[in-house]
Amino acid sequence: MLNTINNNLFYLETYGCQMNISDSEIIISILLKQGFYLTYNIEKANIILLNTCAIRENAKMTILNRLQYLKSLYQHKKKIFGIIGCLSKIDNEFFSKKLVNFSINPNSYKEIPKIINYIKQGKKIEFHKNNKIETYENIYPFRQQYKVTAFLSIIRGCNNMCTFCIVPFTRGREISISPYSIINECKKLYNNGYKEITLLGQNVDSYSWKETNKKNNLNFAKLLNMLAIQLPFMRIRFTTSNPHDFSDEVINIISKYSNICKHIHLPVQSGSNKMLKLMNRKYTRESYIYLIKKIKNTIPECSISHDIMTGFCNENEEDHKYTISLMNEIKYHYGYMFIYSPRPGTYAYRQLSDNVPYKTKQKRLQEIINLQKEHSYFNMKQYIGQIQEVLIEGRSKKNDLYWYGKNTQNITVVFPKKNYKIGNFVNVKILDFTSVTLIGNIIN
Ligand code: 5AD
Ligand code: SF4
Repeated sequence: MLNTINNNLFYLETYGCQMNISDSEIIISILLKQGFYLTYNIEKANIILLNTCAIRENAKMTILNRLQYLKSLYQHKKKIFGIIGCLSKIDNEFFSKKLVNFSINPNSYKEIPKIINYIKQGKKIEFHKNNKIETYENIYPFRQQYKVTAFLSIIRGCNNMCTFCIVPFTRGREISISPYSIINECKKLYNNGYKEITLLGQNVDSYSWKETNKKNNLNFAKLLNMLAIQLPFMRIRFTTSNPHDFSDEVINIISKYSNICKHIHLPVQSGSNKMLKLMNRKYTRESYIYLIKKIKNTIPECSISHDIMTGFCNENEEDHKYTISLMNEIKYHYGYMFIYSPRPGTYAYRQLSDNVPYKTKQKRLQEIINLQKEHSYFNMKQYIGQIQEVLIEGRSKKNDLYWYGKNTQNITVVFPKKNYKIGNFVNVKILDFTSVTLIGNIIN
């Protein structure tokens, strides 16, 4: 028995977005069911898996460096290395250069146990090309203990084909997960003490489910509505939304239910219509601003966050100024900002020229980061003196005597522990702030 365990111990590292974190929970579950054992100690593991990201070139470099380091560290030990996730779909370099024993894409995780067993038997492994679409509906993800928040995929893949983005190539076409499976999992989570779920998808607003032989279609708004009613004591969040698909129906549902969190992540990418068109984003600066106004009118307390990319093909100073002015107009609570990185296979890589010098990209990035910091300060300041309901998620990283949690707007709040526990909802009076954290005291 001990021998089997030692032989089947796997260690998994996860890179990239929340979807990958969620996928890792599915992968662990698949392996545990097939007689493998999870270890958090890489030394002990004889199978090392890296769940990878491909969104930018530096994500690939991170994996390459990590793999080379691990291979040199364990060169005299017999360990099986595998890369899984987005990079594996588009890049066979790791496999062809024998840096890894196998490579499995996001739609083929169920194959991992079989492939590892083949390797152990000394069979020859081919680069794994598989274009089928997989929902993993029948797999209950493995979740770490002592957590009160969970991710849950409701739609996989993306049909949008933004010209810069590799995701439609790595994850394939959109496929929605059945509402029955979503509700079942949410209820299990609730019964296991979870207090918050985040519904995940590259574009949650295109969620669409149709019962065989039935006319009516369940869209994202209706799914949200159903979950809000069936899980009255669970906080519900979702990400990511595409401004093009964000409906009035969704805005109304968010405003209607107190258990749907008042935060929307709405990546804009650029404030220039010329750039939005080149990116194939299917909305304009004006329609985006109009959408934000509608949200603010219906849900005044709603926080908005963004993704912005600088230095996309043909972006000039005027385009950059449009982005700055859009940010000034909206004053986002927070955002994620990136330098454009060409991805082989995308339309932009094939048809457009990556013609903004790296230094200019960096300068523009720094400008928007600085501006976002100002806006974050501005928004955080408004919370001073207010009482915020916070779900306690864990110990503050900086101070052992403090808890951290999030308010409905997805802002991190830290406060002295008192006699409360992880999973409690507490009312916190806000006394201070930084650009990313609110600081206060429980007043329950
Ligand atoms: N280069 C840089 N950033 C990118 N993103 C997507 N593709 C690229 C790329 N090729 C960013 C977008 C997206 C976020 C998840 O990552 O801003 O919204
Ligand atoms: Fe990529 Fe656009 Fe799909 Fe987002 S919506 S995953 S940016 S193609």
